[in-house]
Amino acid sequence: MFKKLNILDEADKRLQQKSKEVTFPLTKEDKKLIQQIISELTYSQIPEKQEEYNLRPGMGLAFPQLGIHKRIIVIVHEVEKGKFNNYVVVNPKIISHSVEMIAAEEGEGCLSINREVVGHVPRYARVTVTGFDEDGNEIKIRAREELSIAFQHEIDHLDGILFYDRIDKEKPLLNENEIRFI
Ligand code: NI
Repeated sequence: MFKKLNILDEADKRLQQKSKEVTFPLTKEDKKLIQQIISELTYSQIPEKQEEYNLRPGMGLAFPQLGIHKRIIVIVHEVEKGKFNNYVVVNPKIISHSVEMIAAEEGEGCLSINREVVGHVPRYARVTVTGFDEDGNEIKIRAREELSIAFQHEIDHLDGILFYDRIDKEKPLLNENEIRFI
């Protein structure tokens, strides 16, 4: 049976805490939770399932959003209709990034933020992320565009940063001379 995750809302200050590095092997509970997150993120991006389980669409989740302060992120990226690539990264680090910045034109969303937030979030157009898979093998991922934004957004959660912390309070909306929109 599909059991919905209990995702913390932004009002919960635990979202502002920094998460700790994880040691291997992962616990059985953590591995189970990773699978549950993958299912929920995947379902949330399939219209029929989204409706059936009353899910908000989302492509990423970080462990601290469940109140667990471990450096684990999960991203389910729809590469074409109905086809998803899953990324599970333990102790992720951005080891290099482009100079070019981008922003999601419609703004970013977050499963912990249940309201409309207006503003553009500057992100690197491309990042290289290293870390470990759930079995402790080293991995390296090159991400660009939407996927690059997703990695930066989820890694921020591990440091207690929410996307609106990166919106310029004086000038929340950027224009196309200042940044490339995707
Ligand atoms: Ni988020």
